[in-house]
Amino acid sequence: MSHKNLTLGEFIIKNQDSFKYSSGELSKLFNSIRLAAKVVNHEVNKAGLVDIIGAAGDTNIQGEDQQKLDVYANEVFINALTKRNIICGLGSEEEDDFITINSQDENHQNKYIILTDPLDGSSNIDVNVSVGTIFSVFRRVTPVGTPVTIEDFLQKGSEQVAAGYIIYGTSTMFVYTTGHGVNGFTLNPALGVFYLSHPDMQFPENGNIYSVNEGNYIHFPQGVKNYIKYCQEEQDDRPYTSRYIGSLVSDFHRNMIKGGIYIYPETSKNPKGKLRLLYECSPMAFIAEQAKGMASDGFTRILDIKPTELHQRVPFICGSKKMVKKAEDFMKNDQ
Ligand code: AHG
Ligand code: MN
Ligand code: MN
Repeated sequence: MSHKNLTLGEFIIKNQDSFKYSSGELSKLFNSIRLAAKVVNHEVNKAGLVDIIGAAGDTNIQGEDQQKLDVYANEVFINALTKRNIICGLGSEEEDDFITINSQDENHQNKYIILTDPLDGSSNIDVNVSVGTIFSVFRRVTPVGTPVTIEDFLQKGSEQVAAGYIIYGTSTMFVYTTGHGVNGFTLNPALGVFYLSHPDMQFPENGNIYSVNEGNYIHFPQGVKNYIKYCQEEQDDRPYTSRYIGSLVSDFHRNMIKGGIYIYPETSKNPKGKLRLLYECSPMAFIAEQAKGMASDGFTRILDIKPTELHQRVPFICGSKKMVKKAEDFMKNDQ
């Protein structure tokens, strides 16, 4: 059978034996994410048609304007994941605190927790530019059958059992890893079926794209400034091309396919960086490493950082291995 005929559902079943832990549970979890992705995709596609775009007039815990579709996607993912007996806890970028599931039922045996950025790059919705969903799956560390605690959520990225993203772009894709490489599936919208289209995705070892919001340049640390100047220098294969969508999932996706680096450093406005460790950086870092790329905060491997709070932010440098290493060199030289 050609890989092109393989659907996401078939692929999950075919590969479930390679999961380290209870495989049926993780398969069920993926099925729910897949369903939620299709529902959100449908709504994102309609965004220009219905009166759903624009700020909901609410701000989330970080004080940022929430778009209506953020709220919608958050509800869809929470419903898909909590209404069935699949996980024991959920954390979302849009929720102040984590959600405990099955706390009333002492017989529940669910072992996994999930963290999600239900709609990433949401400011791009109004202008018909790609957005995404990011998710991260851990095994709980507290005893099965008890209510989850914050410790179940504050785990190092290296403990992830699965991570993935959905990109709602010119095509909608589902990209994920369970620690055995990265595979990408493209949605056939007529059938509502994801097909394996990008088996074994890998970052080229080197690249020539750099993605950073250069409007913040004067607020960047010196190491990042120097690296950007290096990218722009006329030498060897440089200057590199600058591409920045402002939607992490889309910038990451392009860089993984073409070779590139994404940088969101600390700035004076966001002294710890803007992106969230648990909802954005840790899952993307797991995917990056599984795709032979790298992810760092400039000095430390993202997957080695032990979170201390749910909505923690972190500087993020991620992409082709040689480029991230080079950026780290610049950071170290100007510490
Ligand atoms: P979100 O829409 O979930 O708040 O995330 C937006 C993130 C990320 O996707 C993107 O790369 C970055 O914020 C863009 O930030 P700037 O507009 O500051 O460049
Ligand atoms: Mn985001
Ligand atoms: Mn978001």
